[in-house]
Amino acid sequence: MSLNLTINGAVIEAGPGPSLFDYADKLGVQVPTSCQKQGKCKECIVEVVSGMECLTERTSEESHLKDRFRLACRCHLTTDTGEVRCHTMRRGQMRIERQAFSLPASHGKLQLDPAVTRDGDRILIDGNEVDRSTGPIHGLAMDLGTTTIVLRLFDLETGELIADSSLENPQRFGGSDVMARIQYDTTYPGKLLMRTVAGYLSRAIDEFPVDSRTIYEMVVVGNSTMRDIFFRQDVYSIGQSPYQSITEIELAAGKRTTTSLTQNGRKSLLPIHPQARVYGAPIISGHLGADAAACMLAVDLGNEDRTIAIMDIGTNTELIVGNKRRILAASCPAGPAFEGGAIACGMPGLDGAIERVSLNGSGTFHLGVIGDVPPEGICGSGLIDLMSELVRTGQMNPMGRFQDGVDRITLDDEQGIYFLESDVNELAQAKGANMAGLQTVFSNYGLQFDEVDVFYLAGGFGRHVNVDAARRIGLIPALPDAKIVKVGNAAIEGACIALLSKTKRQELERLVRQVKHCRLETHPHFFDFFVEGCQFKPVESTLEVTG
Ligand code: FES
Repeated sequence: MSLNLTINGAVIEAGPGPSLFDYADKLGVQVPTSCQKQGKCKECIVEVVSGMECLTERTSEESHLKDRFRLACRCHLTTDTGEVRCHTMRRGQMRIERQAFSLPASHGKLQLDPAVTRDGDRILIDGNEVDRSTGPIHGLAMDLGTTTIVLRLFDLETGELIADSSLENPQRFGGSDVMARIQYDTTYPGKLLMRTVAGYLSRAIDEFPVDSRTIYEMVVVGNSTMRDIFFRQDVYSIGQSPYQSITEIELAAGKRTTTSLTQNGRKSLLPIHPQARVYGAPIISGHLGADAAACMLAVDLGNEDRTIAIMDIGTNTELIVGNKRRILAASCPAGPAFEGGAIACGMPGLDGAIERVSLNGSGTFHLGVIGDVPPEGICGSGLIDLMSELVRTGQMNPMGRFQDGVDRITLDDEQGIYFLESDVNELAQAKGANMAGLQTVFSNYGLQFDEVDVFYLAGGFGRHVNVDAARRIGLIPALPDAKIVKVGNAAIEGACIALLSKTKRQELERLVRQVKHCRLETHPHFFDFFVEGCQFKPVESTLEVTG
């Protein structure tokens, strides 16, 4: 008899008694901790993918964790048969890449104009002294996503990108979408979500190859909920119609002049300089957050004459259409499917994720995996490739049904990675929501798809997604290659620009006021667009417009 325990892809034969943390130690798998297995720090979160029945009952220290999430130091194995698969919150590789910051689109060179400057040994933020030092001056840009977090570290005196890092958002234990997080944050006192993310971020910042106290400014972008939780704002109102951040409500009441937020390093609980400024970029309106605002900066929408569209696919998909004269935007609650959430073998686009899938003539899958590791799951770009290949080879019809009554397609037998027909339903709904949003915004603008000059495809997988596959399954409109520009994670690009240039930050503050928020539910054809968008077939650039 034996029990196979898999932690982060590493396998060990296990038996009753020790905790998951003990076995992780034996396997050499690092589990985040600052209390040495005392059940106090709450950092040793693991997601149990299968085999929960082989583990001890949830303890009182784990009462804040739901569903598949446990504390590795608190849960022990109870049996010597079966199989348990789990993983810690995942990390991307930290890349150290001293290089000039380059913009994703065809912009001119960014004029370096940071808010933090030096006068002799005085370090100043907007002219006010915050420290005395002759050491370097660093700044940090962060895209705080619902599923993943991206950090980029800069030398603010040279504009050089020094390192970047990405990690799974540990707040996932509070639910996979923003509505669940709002409910969690409202129900559990003590700002647990904020403190958990601060713990993980602190570890990531400490690993950067610089003294973290030389970080004097940080620019944070994220959707309205993620940003406001990080800044300890009450997020209850974002979850209730008319879905407004407290900053938006206060702005309308004349209590503040911008929806941006500022706090110092000490308050943020991060190991950066205590007097550092942490700037939360302004949100647009409702769920259209600082990430959408940052996307506009990344593609230089404020100076754009052409008509452009930006589609930033994520748990909430942001859609922006227009030019420097008129901008419409909307947010679609697409759900976490394209970020690997709610998919049986889904995962974010971090190491171990299958990001490329192709099927050859004999029906064999060829898989491309992020990082030099065995596959652990499938991320968004892999899912798009996979569905496109299934449609191309006739193994899945446009309604999302598998051929011959099968309900599962195996990609990697050894690692137990498969794709279910029920996963297709999740992805169909997410795709339907995205496409309905896009149709609605174009319709309100009075535009046909093919009248747009540039279609920017953004999002965590925006850089890696196969455009042919995305067009084939109708994730994006059937536009010619020349009009589709992949900009990768435009939100982090925008955050970097706002960090490196005060002028651009002011432009961002102006730009958000210019956007008209398009509320999807008010469009008479929204539901028809949604039903049509759930199908896996190309979307032609013709639709009825309401002007
Ligand atoms: S190691 Fe601190 S709670 Fe488990």
